[in-house]
Amino acid sequence: MNSPQRLRLAAIGCGSRTFIYFELAAKQPELYEIVAAADHNAARRAKARALSQNPAFREFTDDAAILAEPKLADVMIIGTQDAFHFAHASAAMRKGYDLLLEKPISTNLRDVLALEKLARDLGRKVQVCHVLRYTPFYRRVKDIVTSGVLGKIVTFEATEGVEPWHQGHSFVRGHWSVTEKATPMIIAKSCHDTDILSWLVDSPCVSLGSFGGIMHFRPEQAPAGAPARCTDGCPVGDMCLYNAHRYLGDRKNWLEIIYDRAKTATDAEIVDWLKTSPWGRCVYHCDNTAVDHQTLNMSFASGATGTFTMTAFSEGRDLAIFGTKARLLAGERVKRTAGCDIVIDDHATHTLQRITIDHEKDGWHGGGDAGLVRSLHAEFSKAQAEDMESSLQKSVESHLMGFAAEESRQTGRTMNLAEVRARLS
Ligand SMILES: NC(=O)c1ccc[n+]([C@@H]2O[C@H](COP(=O)([O-])OP(=O)(O)OC[C@H]3O[C@@H](n4cnc5c(N)ncnc54)[C@H](O)[C@@H]3O)[C@@H](O)[C@H]2O)c1
Repeated sequence: MNSPQRLRLAAIGCGSRTFIYFELAAKQPELYEIVAAADHNAARRAKARALSQNPAFREFTDDAAILAEPKLADVMIIGTQDAFHFAHASAAMRKGYDLLLEKPISTNLRDVLALEKLARDLGRKVQVCHVLRYTPFYRRVKDIVTSGVLGKIVTFEATEGVEPWHQGHSFVRGHWSVTEKATPMIIAKSCHDTDILSWLVDSPCVSLGSFGGIMHFRPEQAPAGAPARCTDGCPVGDMCLYNAHRYLGDRKNWLEIIYDRAKTATDAEIVDWLKTSPWGRCVYHCDNTAVDHQTLNMSFASGATGTFTMTAFSEGRDLAIFGTKARLLAGERVKRTAGCDIVIDDHATHTLQRITIDHEKDGWHGGGDAGLVRSLHAEFSKAQAEDMESSLQKSVESHLMGFAAEESRQTGRTMNLAEVRARLS
């Protein structure tokens, strides 16, 4: 594609992610043209059409229908749920499409490696939606690391606080709660983190060990007398952090992600919907298998080591990088205690440099969604697929780390990543 030409986008799956990308792309008509989308759900197709702002926009009922047409676009967005990524991404690549592929790449490592091989064999470009690489915050951290001001990275500590309500919504009641139907938590939520950490260390992870489990979201933790559904009259009621009736109040924005009529339905209709919806269940009485806490202990080819903790019971991401010349502290805790985003503490002078980031407001993920969409045109204009910032080739590393971590958590073994890759290649 020549760079002045508009990049034509189509999508398989019109859910919350595709809508975000369509909305952001439609704001840049000089770069993007949204030409088509497929979804079983007519209301979602209609929303995609409206977002496209394109009178010639074409709708299809599913992946097979859109892929039966001659190639319609330069890039196909794969915005279906995790379990469909492998089939939809493979078929779209075979049809000739380059891809914007939602993470996770797939639900198991064998398929991740098979997709990487297929893209290579067919010469397709695949950009994985590791949106954090496009946030002003992580770009600044990367620039600081690359500048050498920290010296060599020796150690790091990183935390991802999912936040209790978000854990309940997505990983206890929601799409990613049963890992056997979706993807293990350390991939579903934290492949962003393994991606960012290996990107910052700029060295392959060679081995890791992991621990974790479900400590809180289990029946033994339920308040006495809590029924299976919040709508059945819970004795704890409004005192419960996870009361599903909050979807009508301060958590209405979360309802919009899962219930298409969230903005137009009456309160009575929403309560009725909650009576049978997975999101109306008591968080202590679900079929969840996704962990609510997990730690990783990693060593890298450079000699660096680091730890990562995913927990439901914190909010936002935190990072400490310990270099030979200085340490860097960054993220939510720094923001709440020091009032800035990043602090650099120089070992020789003990001077503190405080950095505040101008965060992007558009989209979610701290500006990552907006940054990703803004850069898509330039990314797909690059000559080599692997030069793309979040290419499939680069993204395999984060998934290798995540799947190895899950195996370690389940078996109690320390994993050698070269062995894991060789076993499945
Ligand atoms: N990049 C990120 O940070 C990030 C954040 C959240 C979710 N995700 C990932 O994005 C993906 C999509 O998530 P979502 O919340 O938008 O999903 P969603 O469930 O809201 O939407 C998926 C859509 O796909 C449609 N669909 C299913 N089968 C189809 C088929 N055969 N053909 C056409 N359409 C079909 C469904 O009808 C649905 O509308 C998931 O894999 C999720 O893990 C990524």
